[in-house]
Amino acid sequence: MSREDIQKIKKRLNFDKQAIIHIYRICKLLVTHEPDNEIFSKTVHNLLYAISKILEQEGVFSLLFVKSDIYLNKARIQQNITSFSASEYLIKLFISRNIGGFEFYVLPDSRELLLFFYSLIKYSPAEGVDAIKVFEDLLELSGIRNIRVLPTQAVEQVIPDEVQVLRDYKKKTLVIYQSTIRFLKDALSSKDYISGIDMRNAKRLVNQMVDLSGHNVENFSFWGLSAIKNFDEYTFNHSVNVCVLAIAFGNALGLPKRRLAELGLAALFHDIGKLTIPKKILNKPGQLTSEEWDIMKQHPLFAMKLLFNMHGYSESGLKKVIVALQHHMNYDFSGYPRLILEKKLHLFSRIVAIVDTFDAMTTDRVYQKALKPDDALRRIISLASKKYDPVLVKAFVSSIGLYPPGTLVELSDGSIAVVLKSNPQYENIERPIIKIINSPSERLKSDIINLAETQSLQIRKSLDPEEVGINTPHYLFNE
Ligand SMILES: [Fe+2]
Ligand SMILES: [Fe+2]
Repeated sequence: MSREDIQKIKKRLNFDKQAIIHIYRICKLLVTHEPDNEIFSKTVHNLLYAISKILEQEGVFSLLFVKSDIYLNKARIQQNITSFSASEYLIKLFISRNIGGFEFYVLPDSRELLLFFYSLIKYSPAEGVDAIKVFEDLLELSGIRNIRVLPTQAVEQVIPDEVQVLRDYKKKTLVIYQSTIRFLKDALSSKDYISGIDMRNAKRLVNQMVDLSGHNVENFSFWGLSAIKNFDEYTFNHSVNVCVLAIAFGNALGLPKRRLAELGLAALFHDIGKLTIPKKILNKPGQLTSEEWDIMKQHPLFAMKLLFNMHGYSESGLKKVIVALQHHMNYDFSGYPRLILEKKLHLFSRIVAIVDTFDAMTTDRVYQKALKPDDALRRIISLASKKYDPVLVKAFVSSIGLYPPGTLVELSDGSIAVVLKSNPQYENIERPIIKIINSPSERLKSDIINLAETQSLQIRKSLDPEEVGINTPHYLFNE
């Protein structure tokens, strides 16, 4: 795949979402700033650039807001993590104004574009009036000639049931994933986090994840949520990813729902002890000194104290305490904290030890570049019996697959694909279900292929998404 090809893919993929994110930023700023403020110039410039590229190719730029989706030139915009909240905001904004969307055929200038969004922000339709008519008059008054607003009834679309079910499922998983991150962030950022954590809320979110993890949805896997990484908010993102992975793994092991919920909750709080570790140690780019490492190794003990303070010695809180305390002890007890009496680690701790390492290894940090998922799995396999329970390692690899959902791969014919879902049989551990995103063969473009049923194609190797410039979670959560 040439550098130009990669550039082309990147550009084609991103203009629609870039436009949405820029419009979102402009609208948010217009709530507090006048449109002639300098603050807008860069974003408007970027928005006009994205729009001009779309206009160049398609001759029209129309955005329609339908239920919970946005359509650009009648094609639904496939959300990714970055555009997701922007889209939610804009959909609400347009719906609250009784306006279905807008379109233009000629590139507006920056003044026109800003005034259009400004009018939209400031406009609130009175009950019973023709919203479109009133808004059109308002645009006329502001001298906006090139942008046309579209009524809501023009955008009703018929979406087949099964597509809608899949779309709803993906959306639900994303919403719960993001709500859990937000929940943790709010709870743990407050000064008084010991009493600030609303455990009932945490349980509700984890129970919803457990419910979703039990669905078998075609070409989509709950495991895929953990492919979402966020460099800036590592602690929260990592905790939720470990929770997702633990639930998915527990599910594959056949644990009943009640135990999955306990496991998920314990996984969510496994690193809570890190709250007491100074940030300069947690985020240190280089190697830790031996004193710093000694402090870092205290986090399981800190967690135990924190959790006991939160719950007292209750039965329900105990699993969380055990997992937080044991998750770095290692299968052969060579880890930390050291024990005087070595007793077998709790099943939940052995599960969390594996998924914790897997998520940490596959995430970029200030001190390490992320490993590709299959390389992380190989590393974990090499440490089975020492750090990890060997039986569980085997079960983990066979359920997540050697190329876990979200892995970017190159196939034997040179195509580039993203792994959507693993196949449950052990003999197909290297043959998951994939979505082709670029192929020398025109015939295969954007196809979904089950490699277990297509012997002529194999995975040649995994690729680093950052090097290729491809945002893999995008493909897991689009159609
Ligand atoms: Fe930890
Ligand atoms: Fe961790």
